[in-house]
Amino acid sequence: MKKLMLAVLVMALAACGRQEPELYTIRNASGMEASITNYGGRIVSLLVPDRDGQMRDVVLGFDNLKDYYPEHNETDFGASIGRYANRIKDGRINIDGTDYQLPRNNFGHCLHGGTRGWQYQFYEAAEQTENSLKLVRVSPDGDQGFPGKVTASVTFTLTDDNKLDIRYEAVTDAPTVINMTNHSYFNLSGEPGKHDILGDELYINASNFTPVDDTFMTTGEIWPVDGTPMDFRVAKAIGKDIDADYEQLRNGHGYDHNWVLDTSGDDNVVAAALYSPVSGIELKVYTDEPGIQVYAGNFLDGTVIGKGGVAYGHRTAVCLETQKFPDTPNKPEWPSAVLRPGETYTSHCVFEFGVK
Ligand code: BGC
Repeated sequence: MKKLMLAVLVMALAACGRQEPELYTIRNASGMEASITNYGGRIVSLLVPDRDGQMRDVVLGFDNLKDYYPEHNETDFGASIGRYANRIKDGRINIDGTDYQLPRNNFGHCLHGGTRGWQYQFYEAAEQTENSLKLVRVSPDGDQGFPGKVTASVTFTLTDDNKLDIRYEAVTDAPTVINMTNHSYFNLSGEPGKHDILGDELYINASNFTPVDDTFMTTGEIWPVDGTPMDFRVAKAIGKDIDADYEQLRNGHGYDHNWVLDTSGDDNVVAAALYSPVSGIELKVYTDEPGIQVYAGNFLDGTVIGKGGVAYGHRTAVCLETQKFPDTPNKPEWPSAVLRPGETYTSHCVFEFGVK
């Protein structure tokens, strides 16, 4: 009888979708380690050697996996974002003449796939080896308002030369839009309770960026960085100009913009680099995507309590989100995010760690 009740309970929980979050750890031969949960495909911790060979955890996150649930914290910490990273204007898309309304969860726009985007959904751990993990998510037709049943995967591989290689793939049974990214909040000092990221040096291989209005929506223009605080073609401290009297920095509350990469989709060329003088750790980002969102943690305000009870204060982390340009579904002149049946969406991002 008891057994039967337990079986009924397990089935009822499964029917309610109350899956439990699991943690998967992958390692390379050099001792680098990444722990990833199937909940939201989130990188929970990333252990990287500093200049003295000591391991430091360089991403924000939570000790308890359920703290990633939206009822506890509405954050994108470490997440595999889908279907559409960044913003879609008024949450509206039109594909082949049909309008679709998506959640308007950010200043009237759709941000990061909607209120319950994939960062708040379960992926399945499909394959794991010592140094790699493949997560798969089947997103039903109409998920967050997006058309088409999509099967998406994210494969994380830790190479022995300290690269965290992330490959995204997706297929669909009806035309839709896809733009996936990883939303890790990096603090390369490994001590976000002590050090913000304003002293970290940032390089962005981009001569242009896409300006935003005061709702963080891209205007459709592409502006040169030359002569503005947006110019990171020579590495400089993030804090150097972040509060400069410049309209784009007022609109973004600091850096929260998409840079138009000069890499022409070549994922062997450095797209961005971040360096912490505290730890000596340098992170180089490579991608085949045309853009990168650099978000300097401007909305962190000390209210989210993370690993080890640390309150994550203003600008204690920076996100480097490789992506299509924000709102491309409404900006046909920009690289398209439309995926059709028979096609495979792919995207590649590498986070390479070293010391200087
Ligand atoms: C956005 C920020 C937003 C953050 C949330 C970034 O990609 O550009 O505006 O606050 O994600 O996690």
